[in-house]
Amino acid sequence: MRAPTTILVTGGAGFIGSHTCVELLDHGYKLIVIDNYSNSSSQVFNRIEKVTDRFVGAVYELDIRDRHALSAVFDRHPIDAVVHFAAHKAVGESTRMPIEYYDTNVAGTTALLRAMHEHEVHQLVFSSSCSIYGDAGRGPLDESTPARPTNPYASSKWICEQILADVCARIPEFTVLCLRYFNPVGAHPSGLLGEDPRGTPDNLMPTVAQVAIGRLSRLRVFGDDYSTPDGTAIRDYLHVMDTAEAHRIALDRLSDTSGMHVFNLGVGKGQSVLEVVAAFGAASGSPIPFRVVPRRAGDVPELVADAGAVNRAWGWRPRRNLADMCGDSWRFQRRNPLGYAQ
Ligand code: UD1
Repeated sequence: MRAPTTILVTGGAGFIGSHTCVELLDHGYKLIVIDNYSNSSSQVFNRIEKVTDRFVGAVYELDIRDRHALSAVFDRHPIDAVVHFAAHKAVGESTRMPIEYYDTNVAGTTALLRAMHEHEVHQLVFSSSCSIYGDAGRGPLDESTPARPTNPYASSKWICEQILADVCARIPEFTVLCLRYFNPVGAHPSGLLGEDPRGTPDNLMPTVAQVAIGRLSRLRVFGDDYSTPDGTAIRDYLHVMDTAEAHRIALDRLSDTSGMHVFNLGVGKGQSVLEVVAAFGAASGSPIPFRVVPRRAGDVPELVADAGAVNRAWGWRPRRNLADMCGDSWRFQRRNPLGYAQ
């Protein structure tokens, strides 16, 4: 199969999407980007152009569920492959808005598959999540760990994976590389691009960054009574630039692949909430004020990747450590105290 050169990136204005756009432009890919800006900003494209010194390409404001608009993008551009990020991703919100999550994440994915198939585009890199493993217990989890999603967000990703596997089995032209992220954090080292959630952040790293800059008064640590060494929950934090690089390698590899393959993206090492707090304090030069509050509903004690499969398949391994993640995240926060909006 011909190696892809023109890539449609859905959700390209978002956190992982924007960093992946940088990585793809830096490696000579041509981009077409779509985003509905539901949790992102079009400001990000100026930043991507500054960082890469390249033109982003055609950018469309559209919702992936809008079949006509989506089809028009495929009509207009010679797209070779798609990287599909566009989705809702907040676990807590998904429990309050399950229909919205299934509609955007599942119906959005089937709308995209239909448009791809109609336009004879069959190469896809899909953004999945370790949350599909649910509370799978201790120790690094490999891709054979049974999926046991515990919230609508995780279920929506698992349903998409099953749809994609079935589509690949029945329409042999399709090739799908499905990447299950653990916890991508950090920012581009320039300080120009980073994570800029709308409203109060839900996730740990952007919350810690906003405490460090003084936008929030202190971090709430959700539980210190887990059976972990310091009592706080453990996750596998992965630098967003390493995550972006894995997507670029996936695209490089798509043309010599067939069917569907699933890979975990993680470091393979767990860090507790308090370890992240200490590392961020060291990066920012002052301790992060926090107080311990009860556990957050739906949280599990530990989620750590066995990321051996992707390393064996592609030789990819994350290069950045927790100090890099905190340092880069802090640089973005310091340079953009109010995010992209300022
Ligand atoms: C969740 C999802 C993940 C999704 C990610 C991004 C699960 C298992 N994982 O990750 O798939 O991609 O969100 O939305 O559902 N914490 C605090 N205080 C805070 C915020 C977080 O103590 O203010 C703690 C949490 O309790 C958790 C850790 O920090 O132990 C990481 O939380 P977070 O950054 O929200 O990510 P996950 O919940 O692991």
